[in-house]
Amino acid sequence: MHIAANTPAALPVFKSRVVPVVVIQDLAQAVPMAEALLAGGVDVIEITLRSEIALTAIEAVARKVPAMMVGAGTVTRAEQVQAVLDAGARFALSPGMTPSLLAKVKSAGLPFMPGVASPSEAMLARDEGFGLMKCFPAAQLGGVDVLKAWAGPLPDLRFCPTGGVTVQNLAQFLALPNVAMVGGSWLTPAALVQAGDWAAITRLAAQATALASA
Ligand code: 3PG
Repeated sequence: MHIAANTPAALPVFKSRVVPVVVIQDLAQAVPMAEALLAGGVDVIEITLRSEIALTAIEAVARKVPAMMVGAGTVTRAEQVQAVLDAGARFALSPGMTPSLLAKVKSAGLPFMPGVASPSEAMLARDEGFGLMKCFPAAQLGGVDVLKAWAGPLPDLRFCPTGGVTVQNLAQFLALPNVAMVGGSWLTPAALVQAGDWAAITRLAAQATALASA
């Protein structure tokens, strides 16, 4: 999936319609995880700011796995924006949005997907210039039915549902005309990451890639 643009800052282009949402607890995991995902056809990764080493992990992946489009996730405060840019993040995502965060990503020129959970929030994000946004938490909000309902009154908007997306339901989400991509943590289960079972993560990535292109 080539996402051509998200105004005001163009999103970088990547092929995968599946975005792994990861928490890196051990810096040594970052590069092999990125390489394992890439080997399975997943060329984008959201490294969340939910661990102390997240910025260092973003920096390592950006530097050592240049084919991987690395984004920063769980960006919830304006003061995090410069830090993720400095680390080398090519874009950022948030579970929500605040006026100060939107102002900062725009002034910094950081491609950004705000998070929305209602039509009003989606309309607010559109007013701010964003046409592609994260729908969070997608499954808990009602899943595929919610995105279908939003497509009627908001046909120009595109979403990345995240939260409760699984290998069982990802194809249903991706079949919707207003779903550009999906995100989730199922591609990098903690047990496999801790065990360093990168081959298994490549298999999960390849499975998701195949389902997404079916
Ligand atoms: C998150 O930000 O935690 C993502 O929504 C991941 O959700 P998941 O674990 O349900 O995939």
